[in-house]
Order: sequence, then C-alpha cells, then structure tokens
Amino acid sequence: MEGHPDRGDSVRGVAVVTGASSGIGAATARALARAGFAVVLGARRVDRLQQVAADVGGVAVPLDVTRGDSVSAFVKQVPDVQVLVNNAGGAFGRDPIEKATDEDWLAMYQVNVMGTVRMTRALLPALERSGLGHIVVVGSVAGFETYWGGAGYTGAKHAVRALTRTLRLELLGRPIRVTEIDPGLVETEFSLVRFRGDQEEARAPYRGMTPLTADDVAECIRWAVTRPGHVNVDEIVVRPLDQATASDVVRRGE
Ligand SMILES: NC(=O)c1ccc[n+]([C@@H]2O[C@H](COP(=O)([O-])OP(=O)(O)OC[C@H]3O[C@@H](n4cnc5c(N)ncnc54)[C@H](OP(=O)(O)O)[C@@H]3O)[C@@H](O)[C@H]2O)c1
Repeated sequence: MEGHPDRGDSVRGVAVVTGASSGIGAATARALARAGFAVVLGARRVDRLQQVAADVGGVAVPLDVTRGDSVSAFVKQVPDVQVLVNNAGGAFGRDPIEKATDEDWLAMYQVNVMGTVRMTRALLPALERSGLGHIVVVGSVAGFETYWGGAGYTGAKHAVRALTRTLRLELLGRPIRVTEIDPGLVETEFSLVRFRGDQEEARAPYRGMTPLTADDVAECIRWAVTRPGHVNVDEIVVRPLDQATASDVVRRGE
C-alpha cells in the first residue's frame, strides 16, 4: 500500500463512507480501500453493506443518518478517522410543489441535510485529532440548479451546499479539509428509490444518453482526498458529456 503523502504511514488511515451499501458510496469504499485507507462503511441495509465491506476488506457498521441514536452508536465504533465521506442521501418523488407531500420533503431534508450535519458534528473531534482530517460531501448539480418537479430535492441539496461552504469558513485555520463533489446524472439505485421501485420510471432519466458510473464519481473523491495536505479541493462538478444542465440532456434516437 502507498503511504500517506504527509504522514509517511504504511496506510493512509481510516475513511468513513456513509451510504456505502450501493451506488456512489459502495464505489467510493472500493476506491478508498484500493488507495490504502482502512474503510468503515455505514448504511441501513446491513446484508448489502457486509457484502461490500467483505469485498474491500473494510468494516460494516449499521447506520441510519436520520437518527441521532444510530449516529452515536456508529461513531463509538470509530475512535480514529481521517476522512468522512457524507454520501448517504437521495430523492423521494418528482412532484411539483403544488402536489408534493410534507413527508417526502421532510425525508429528503432529514437524510441529505441533517444526516450530513449529524455525521459531521459527531466525527469532527476525531477528524481534528487525526492531524489532517477531510470531510467530503456528496452534493449534486441539484445544489445550484433547479428543475421541474425537483424542488424538494434541489432545496435539500442547496442546503447541503450552503452548509458545506459554511463549514469551509468555520474550519479555516484548523487541520480539516472540506470538499464538495457535485455529480450530474449517475446510474445507481438513486432513481429506483426516487420513483419508489418503478423500474420504467427509474430508467427514463438515462434513456438515450450515457450517464456517469458510480466509479466515475468515486474516482473524483479518491483524487480529492489523496492530494498533498496543503491542497483543499473545494468542489468538483462532474457530469456526463451528454448533460449540460439538470434539464439539458442530449438523447440519441429521439
Ligand atoms: N445518482 C445520481 O444521479 C446522483 C447525482 C448527484 C448526486 N447524487 C447523490 O449521491 C449520493 C449517493 O446516491 P447514489 O446515486 O449512489 O444512490 P443509491 O444507490 O440509492 O445510494 C444511496 C445510499 O444512501 C444510503 N442511505 C439512504 N438513506 C440512508 C440513511 N437514512 N442512513 C444511512 N444511509 C442511507 C443507501 O443505503 P441504505 O438504503 O442501505 O441505507 C445507499 O447506500 C446521494 O447523496 C445522492 O443524492 C446522486
């Protein structure tokens, strides 16, 4: 394994990845393990989590970021940590504001925004103690764009962006890097969750175009966290070549 560029350790230290049971989180766990991190994986579907953890030689710990007691129990298992990847998140529904339900909006705020706040607050002391901590937040182009039927999700991701930028200000002068990764369309279970298991609706966003893969995004995260210690990658916006904005997507054969 390569050593850490600044510490000369035989491994780079511990990386926590939330939402590591599928998609971008699972790919990030794999990429960070390959880069020499000891990875601790958190999510609710423990069987899926254990599978990914076994693949990467990591540790699976049950985690529901929407619950304070679950976050506290998770953090007790992780006394030392260098990198926190706040990835757990998602969208529920694509209803216009006049039809959207309070439940969907609150659930999106809970997982994307409050989940990130809870995990960050709980692990900040250990991240700082490590001498060079790094908080990565998986935002979205939805954090600075809007689209029809997307207000609940874009509202939550706009809030995630605001909190990430505020963290960067508040942690200035302390040894903790802060990076936001903002992907466009990535083919994962994201749409299946958004459309509550409807396979046809879930496939529609990727129709006739080539989306990013979870590995494409994981590679951005791996790159950001392996820069020399004095380098803070503030943000990376990464989209498919076929996508210029949240709504401008080229679809072949249409
Ligand atoms: N796919 C895209 O096009 C796209 C684009 C931009 C940004 N993003 C963002 O990327 C992140 C990862 O999404 P993905 O695309 O990889 O979708 P995904 O395959 O659905 O993965 C979402 C992950 O979050 C976990 N999760 C959900 N609720 C959780 C909770 N309460 N506590 C802990 N973990 C929870 C899920 O695991 P469990 O269900 O097992 O808990 C799963 O591992 C999200 O923040 C999403 O908003 C996705």
